Amino acid sequence: MEKEQNPLSNDANWPLYFEKTRYGNPRENLVRVIDLFDKENFQGVCIDIGSGAGNDIGYLLEKGWKVIAFDPEEKSQRIIHERFSNHPKLQFTRANFKEIPWQTIDLVNCSFVLPFCEKDYFDSLMQNIVSNIRPGGRFSGNFFGLNHSWNHLSLVSKEKALSYFQYFDLEYINEIEEDKISALGDEVYFHNIDVVGRRKS
Ligand SMILES: C[S@@+](CC[C@H](N)C(=O)[O-])C[C@H]1O[C@@H](n2cnc3c(N)ncnc32)[C@H](O)[C@@H]1O
Repeated sequence: MEKEQNPLSNDANWPLYFEKTRYGNPRENLVRVIDLFDKENFQGVCIDIGSGAGNDIGYLLEKGWKVIAFDPEEKSQRIIHERFSNHPKLQFTRANFKEIPWQTIDLVNCSFVLPFCEKDYFDSLMQNIVSNIRPGGRFSGNFFGLNHSWNHLSLVSKEKALSYFQYFDLEYINEIEEDKISALGDEVYFHNIDVVGRRKS
């Protein structure tokens, strides 16, 4: 029997995913990048793509950042509204990757979202991300590697992932491969590449 597709690729399962993750911690890579900005005593504006249940948004707001957040899901919008009820430093818009109105920014955060970009738009999305980060600004996010079991998503080699950052100093790269249980309880071979980078001045 053919193995069932990853439920996360089915839009109908995002609401369940958001319920399961809404009381979770911010992603480690986000904490890492904010630590780097803290060392520079800097708080600015972050574009958070694919915000989900908003755990990263909560951390950014706590740390004094302004957040411009995007997610296409109505349930994400509802949870983020419940959690942060019109916080003055949060602007949330329902938008998919192609609909993001880009602007020059201090930080782009992409936690577990890039693999869900359509394969034929992936390069354009990455170009939009890296070209809109100001000199001295940063990227934090992750890619799924070629061995990840959800191979219908946009998977990239480490070399390909890093090739987008030719104008960046890479401050953290971590590639990991391991068996894992997903948030929705599926067995998954997890191949992940975390990246934090600072755009050269
Ligand atoms: C695995 S979740 C990650 C959520 C959150 N960033 C986190 O770290 O928990 C992936 C997110 O990507 C969003 N997403 C899926 N397809 C998308 C698309 N085409 N454009 C933008 N976001 C999308 C989903 O709604 C979901 O919130």
